[in-house]
Formats: sequence, structure tokens, C-alpha cells
Amino acid sequence: MHTDLENTATQDKSGTFAIDAVRLIAELNALAKFTSVEPSAEGTAVTRVVFTEDDLRARAWLKLLATEAGLLIREDAVGNTFFRWIGSEPNLPAVATGSHIDAIPHAGMYDGTVGVLGGLEAIRALQRSGVRPRRSIELVLLTSEEPTRFGIGCLGSRLLSGTLEPVRADALHGTQRGCEEETLAEVRADAGFTGPLAGVRLFENYYHAWVELHIEQGPLLEREDLPLGIVTAIAAPASYRFTIEGIGGHAGALLMPDRRDALCAAAELILSIERHTLATGAIDSVATVGTCDVYPGAVNSVPSRVTLQLDIRDTDPTRRERVMQAVRGDVEALAARRQVHIAETLVNADEPAICSPHIVEVLNEVCRANGVAAKQMVSRAYHDSSFIARIAPIAMLFIPCRNGVSHRPDEHASPADIALGARVLASALGKLASE
Ligand code: GLV
Ligand code: MN
Ligand code: MN
Repeated sequence: MHTDLENTATQDKSGTFAIDAVRLIAELNALAKFTSVEPSAEGTAVTRVVFTEDDLRARAWLKLLATEAGLLIREDAVGNTFFRWIGSEPNLPAVATGSHIDAIPHAGMYDGTVGVLGGLEAIRALQRSGVRPRRSIELVLLTSEEPTRFGIGCLGSRLLSGTLEPVRADALHGTQRGCEEETLAEVRADAGFTGPLAGVRLFENYYHAWVELHIEQGPLLEREDLPLGIVTAIAAPASYRFTIEGIGGHAGALLMPDRRDALCAAAELILSIERHTLATGAIDSVATVGTCDVYPGAVNSVPSRVTLQLDIRDTDPTRRERVMQAVRGDVEALAARRQVHIAETLVNADEPAICSPHIVEVLNEVCRANGVAAKQMVSRAYHDSSFIARIAPIAMLFIPCRNGVSHRPDEHASPADIALGARVLASALGKLASE
């Protein structure tokens, strides 16, 4: 962790950009207060699920900050919000940066937010320097990068890039317990985002370049004592839902040999996923069953139905599919042996994203000019940038996070590293906007 704030608040050696690190950190702390959980002993816990009161209040606050910075605001039908600083040649494709502010249950305060508030501060730093960019520079808040509410991640960026059919998106159901009846169409309308989702898609060439600033969410930068990462590729995520139907009954009276316990079958399925993922021997193969909904959910009732959500990722989608094939073999055998029914639903299976060599080189140049040692690396987490990559050249900047921890309240990035990331972002946006 790099904690010396002084250096990062000074001027950029290749330009004149100064980051107001004190203000940026204060804004990150202020944003962390829009949460439906209280701070806990574990750290600053943040839960901010898309289109909840907290999310909507945070969006309103952010719009105030952007208005103060003189940015033009546009919202689309899914709530993606665009804050534009108009360049001297406004008809040219813009340069953009952005990320998300939604947070999974009991998350930390830096995931996504660093890219939104850091992006805003990068724009303010460019403004303070007196430059007027040739291309417009746009900060984008993307809706529901996290899959918490509707079961699919990167909702806003999928729609922007035409990766998700608008009709399918509107029909998405809530995945949280007790919210299964709600649909995106209803929820977004209640949140004030109306109009057809078909209008969300951006045409190719809308952006000249896109750079997202984000915490690493892994341990590599800290281990190598490097203050910044430059992402060259983003691993390919997929997710599936499994519904296991058995037969329920009285926990005392239903005899063990007669049972078709859906949760016991689910347990075997989870272990099969773990076993086949480990068996690839590849560090880049990862799989997680992060939710398990048990029906009827009473201690004295044999589970009759279980729904699992699986998140499986790999830098190599073919290897990811091989794991799934092996799991399917087990599913068939265990369903027959336990006499349960197991249904698999594909939620998404995406390709990896490759970053633009040109933008990676611009980021390298800025780092070299500023004496910043940066690591070129792969992102194992997914990001909205994965989908923006389908319509624009992209790259990402990573900031180290303490012990590689993320999606936990004790997630932490140092103020100095955040400020440095914002400073490099400012320089890169400035350069790209002058092209
Ligand atoms: C993003 O939140 C991810 O799960 O990678
Ligand atoms: Mn996240
Ligand atoms: Mn994120």
C-alpha cells in the first residue's frame, strides 16, 4: 500500500493535472453512506442494490456533483447515466470513462465507486488545468454491474453494447428471496426510468476510447509492491441457475431410505463443480456457487426444492465449457441415483475481452512519463468494460487493494494509490481526447 498523499496531489509531469485527493476520498466516504447496512466491526460495509432507495439517493447526489462540474447529464431507459464535458469538436466520437456504484450485500466501499468518483475527479483535474479537450470526455455510471437483483451482471453495459436483448432484459425476474415476482420492466419504471430498452444501445464508433479505473480485487499488485496495473484482457464469465426438485416432508417421520432430499443433491452438485474446476489445474479456472435458496426452508422440513446460482469464469472459455460438460455428466448420474430432477438454466456465457493495444500503450506512456511502475495484467473479475469492448476500444487501470480483498467490508485501497490512479486516468483521457 502506498500511503504518501503528498506526491500524488502534485502535478503531472507530462501535463498540469493535479488531483484533489482530499476531496476525492471525502466523496468516496460520502458515497459509502448511501447503504442499507450499517458500518460493522469488519469495516465500512456497503449494500447498495440497484434501484433501491440508497442507489437512487446516491445517483441524485452524484448528479449534483456532476452539475457543479458543469457536465451535461443524460439518462437512458435502464438508468445508465452519462456526464459529458463537451469538447471543442463535439461531433467527434467521445472519450469515456466510468464504472458502477451498485454494491453486493455486505460489500466494501471501493468496488466501482473508485472508477466513478475517480473519473469525475480526473475530469475536474483536466478542467482545472485549463485544457479544453478536442473530443468530448464522458463519465458513465453504468446500471447494475452486480448481478444481485436480477441475476445477471453488467446489465447496463450489456444493453449499451447490444449484448442482451431488450425484451429479455425487461422480462428478467428478481432473484432475491421474496422478490421473484418483480421484473426489470416494473422496477425500472418505479425508479423513474421509462421508455424502450431498445433505445439504450449505442452505435459503434460512439466512443473513440474507453478507460475504466477500478480496484484490482486481487493480491498481485500489492505482492509486487506496484501502485498501478494496466489491464490487457478480462476473463470470460458465465453463470447458470440449477433448480433441484426432490420430495419434501416431515423431518422426523420421513424415513431416511425413502428420502429425495433436494439439498443433499445440491450439496453433491456443488462439490462436483468444485472438483471439476480444480481438476483443470489452471489458476484461471474459478467457480463459485454463491446462493442457495432452500424451499420450504424450515428446520424440521425435508428440502423439496433448491435453487443454486453458479458463477464460473476462465480466461479460456473452452476450458470453462469443458468443466460444465463434466459437471453435467455428474448431474445426470446423481439425479438418477437420488431420484431428483435437476434443471440447468443458462444465464450468460460471455467471451473474454481484449484491451486495445493502442490504449494500453497510451497508459504505459503516461506511466513512463510520470515515473510510475505499472504491471500489465489480466482481470479475473468482470467489469462493464468487458461489454463496452464490443463497441469501442477499451482498457482498464487497476489500483492495488489491501490483501487483495474485495466484495467484503474490509476492502481497502489507499488514498495515495487512488489519487495516483485518478491522475494517470486524467492524463490518459486528456491524451486520448486530443487524438
Ligand atoms: C464483479 O463484481 C465481479 O463479480 O467480477
Ligand atoms: Mn463487484
Ligand atoms: Mn466492480
